[in-house]
Amino acid sequence: MQENREEARASYIPYGDTESARSGKRARSPWYQTLNGSWKFNYRPRAKDVDTDWTGERYDTSGWDDLLVPSCWQVQGYDQLQYTNVNYPFPYDPPYVPDDNPAGLYVREFRIGPEWSGKDTYIMFEGVNACFYLWINGAYVGYSQGSRVPAEFNIAPHVRQGSNKIAVMVLKWCDGSYLEDQDQWRYTGIFRDVYLLARDQAHVRDVFCRTELAEDLKSARIQVEVDTTGAASVDVQLTDPSGRELLNQRGDVDGKHAFDLPVDSPMLWNAEHPHLYEVIVSSGEEVLRFKVGFRRIEIKDGVFRINGQDIKLKGVNRHDSHPELGQTIPLRHMIEDLKLMKRHNINTIRTSHYPNDPRFLDLCDEYGFYVIDEADLESHGDFSLYYGTKDNRSFPKNPEWKEAFLDRQIRMVERDKNHASVIIWSLGNESYYGANHVAMAEWTHARDQSRLVHYESAAHDPEQEFDQSCLDMESRMYMSVPDLEAYAKDGGKRKPMFLCEYSHAMGNGPGDLKDYWEIIYAYPKLMGGCVWEWVDHGIQTYTEDGRPFYGYGGDFGEKPHDGNFCLDGLVSPDRKPNIGLLELKAIYAPVQIEAIDAAKGRFSITNRYDFSTLGKLAIRYRLKAEGTLLAQGELAVPELAPHASAEVTVDLNIPASIAAAVDLEFIVVLNEDQVWAEAGYGIASMQFEVRPRTISAAAEQGGAWGPAKSVQAAEEGRLLVIEGFDFKHTFDLSLGTFTGITKHGVNMLAAPAHFEVWRAPTDNDRNEKHAWANAGLDRAVTKVYSVSWQQPAYDRVTIEVSYSMGGYSIRNILRGTAEWSVFADGSITLRTDVEVGGTVDFLPRFGLQLTMPKGNEAVTYYGLGPHESYIDKKLSVKRDVYDTSVDQMHTDYIMPQENGSRYHTEWAVVSNSLGMGLRFAGPDRFSFNASHYTPEDLTAARHNVELVRRDETIVHLDYKMSGVGSNSCGPRLMEKYRLNEKSFAFEVTIQPVFGEDE
Ligand code: GAL
Ligand code: MG
Repeated sequence: MQENREEARASYIPYGDTESARSGKRARSPWYQTLNGSWKFNYRPRAKDVDTDWTGERYDTSGWDDLLVPSCWQVQGYDQLQYTNVNYPFPYDPPYVPDDNPAGLYVREFRIGPEWSGKDTYIMFEGVNACFYLWINGAYVGYSQGSRVPAEFNIAPHVRQGSNKIAVMVLKWCDGSYLEDQDQWRYTGIFRDVYLLARDQAHVRDVFCRTELAEDLKSARIQVEVDTTGAASVDVQLTDPSGRELLNQRGDVDGKHAFDLPVDSPMLWNAEHPHLYEVIVSSGEEVLRFKVGFRRIEIKDGVFRINGQDIKLKGVNRHDSHPELGQTIPLRHMIEDLKLMKRHNINTIRTSHYPNDPRFLDLCDEYGFYVIDEADLESHGDFSLYYGTKDNRSFPKNPEWKEAFLDRQIRMVERDKNHASVIIWSLGNESYYGANHVAMAEWTHARDQSRLVHYESAAHDPEQEFDQSCLDMESRMYMSVPDLEAYAKDGGKRKPMFLCEYSHAMGNGPGDLKDYWEIIYAYPKLMGGCVWEWVDHGIQTYTEDGRPFYGYGGDFGEKPHDGNFCLDGLVSPDRKPNIGLLELKAIYAPVQIEAIDAAKGRFSITNRYDFSTLGKLAIRYRLKAEGTLLAQGELAVPELAPHASAEVTVDLNIPASIAAAVDLEFIVVLNEDQVWAEAGYGIASMQFEVRPRTISAAAEQGGAWGPAKSVQAAEEGRLLVIEGFDFKHTFDLSLGTFTGITKHGVNMLAAPAHFEVWRAPTDNDRNEKHAWANAGLDRAVTKVYSVSWQQPAYDRVTIEVSYSMGGYSIRNILRGTAEWSVFADGSITLRTDVEVGGTVDFLPRFGLQLTMPKGNEAVTYYGLGPHESYIDKKLSVKRDVYDTSVDQMHTDYIMPQENGSRYHTEWAVVSNSLGMGLRFAGPDRFSFNASHYTPEDLTAARHNVELVRRDETIVHLDYKMSGVGSNSCGPRLMEKYRLNEKSFAFEVTIQPVFGEDE
């Protein structure tokens, strides 16, 4: 597994003085020298073709390529980009790997100056995937594996003052690759920083700052355990968060020694107030700096607590993922991620599925995040091979692999043990469960009593063949909401429940956040969880004609691959928030407002912060009647302790003359700058209907103006032509539908209107779409049994149609009757009664699809916005009147799918830029969409760049659209979000409108 590697230690950089140590800028240390930069690089498809006596010395590298380090080969044009989830990308034959094992030869020179004379020189690789051999000046130094944990070597015997040569051979696969089967792009190379350190011969090798809080949290101490490489005089200094020196201790140490630093009335660390103390450890010519936080993590009475407070982890899973750099993550990119998370009310990060760059944890300490630090260990392919068996060859059960398991845990814990942000150690991901995990957990508990241990796949050992008492919590992924509630209610279950992954955020979704959090908030035993996942792992790619798009599995010709399953994030590859993130922000919001009696303006405000009052917030409100602002103001923010609620009242005072429904919106904003957002930034908002419409929409329309008008109807061949004062519509009696709608000669319909049941499958429809296609929903056509028409009054024509929908080779999907009425103002009212056949559990949608001609780009609607909404995905939308466009209504998923629907629309107008178009309204609210793509277009395209924008505008007026859920990996769409009615009626009015004066 390794040769000559140094023992694992805490991450730090030795500096020359306290000031530069405090800066945290590595380059300011005289004892640090980066080896990042341009290396000579030679890619060999087959490591076996490299001479066995290669040491880097004997080769002329002048013809080699130049490669920037750190980097991943596959995004630099070498080897093969490959995305796989569970499947090993090579034949499963542990511990062997393929004969065609690519190698990368890296060579560069470096200089050592006279300042380093008398020092020991070390080299640190912070991340090399998958394994490497190291030579200095032709001498073999050592070998290491374990891609995302550091590897340090003492190279003192091999270096000299002046010029030196370093050679590294990186192999793509090794036996360790069996333990790195995470669901991700499979990258290779020296992908994190590499640098030299000059060390005093007797230096402080390792430091463990153990912080301990008294039961009452009023006093604390830090045990600074140092471990030296020889006899050294060590000075330990402690400063408080304001920079004031509290203590200074000196001791002569040779080996291990613990300094004990008592602290009175400590300022506590938590994600809301990340107060950090500083421990400066000086010895000889070196200064090490550690930031430490006082916090107590515990499970008490089955409840997870931090500093005594019952906490909910509002988390996300984050991979190191960059659209151009792969798994190499620049510091500022990490900062951007963390700021974006803060701006969306996230307080927890699971570093799925491996330790991140060590500086990432420095940032989490400072910005305030709870971190579940996960070992670089996943053997998912092996797990699925042995699933359900007691076969001891499976890695976690096989004693031969025990040391490898432990090695990964030890190197993570040792590296990250000083970070306040790390609250839970994870034994890795999806590697089944066995004695090797138990050994990891036991080692961890023995080494660090201050944190908890989590491991999810123990849940797949229900009979507990292996002891689970070493796991501090129950962990699950994608547990259904009812199962979660059942666990919470089961008094026999003592451990708190952590959802290490939930609400799979793939494509259009997730649609279940509210359901999870209603339960999580209700039961103290539930710790919260981490949404899967933070970012879409798309690769920046270009079409042949130079148009950019994000590539996913299979786009690079690799086998095997898992398609777009790597696109399941809350943000796009370039960190644009997906709508799912806005939904998450709403449910994670630290302030919740609920109606007590909305009509009377009585609301309850809950402070969901764990350690803060609402003192840094302002709460504004806006009263609107169908888009018109009636009043606005600011609420006096109540003094509220964490988790407390209070009643507030808003003086509504709505003028009686207002017929429209009145909505009250609260907007919670920061009233002072934070490092992650400026004052005025909105962290939460919610809206309530405080008064329904007082006159029905129908009654309002009924007030016709001008002289009485009439309607004439006449059959012309198969067409029924219906004419009025300013309109002429045509109804095709054989198709049973309208084929023409005009007003003043302006045509509003480019194709026959028809009923539609299909939606372009979302990623979350992946388990339904085959049943839907088997039932013919993707090819449904309307069959007309009978059509009759009559004119019951001088100003009205009605047409009765009896129809069914079906597709080839299958039974009818549904049967219905439709009554179309045309009125003197040209409006058409459809009422259809539908009986759904038993072929599918639920329909994606049912509604009317209209195709409007080119030029109908303007959209105004009164409903939820500004972005798309579904019955189960509407936490981040507000009811208002929105002026938008067909293009803006589209949500550009990397893998095209159903999108852009507007749940609960009251009315909508789609028109040309002069306002000539169609207005849609109904007695009941409907789902509305206007798009330049048909469901078939969206179904067929695999990448957004493949979509060809139609000139026409495709309008959907849906009785209902099923929810989106998170079934791409999570549980099936909940019943209450399905369009599963077997019989229903739908009514909608289509009215030609003409300009903005109407
Ligand atoms: C989980 C796994 C993640 C990811 C996810 C699906 O089972 O832990 O790594 O594969 O499913 O996107
Ligand atoms: Mg997996």
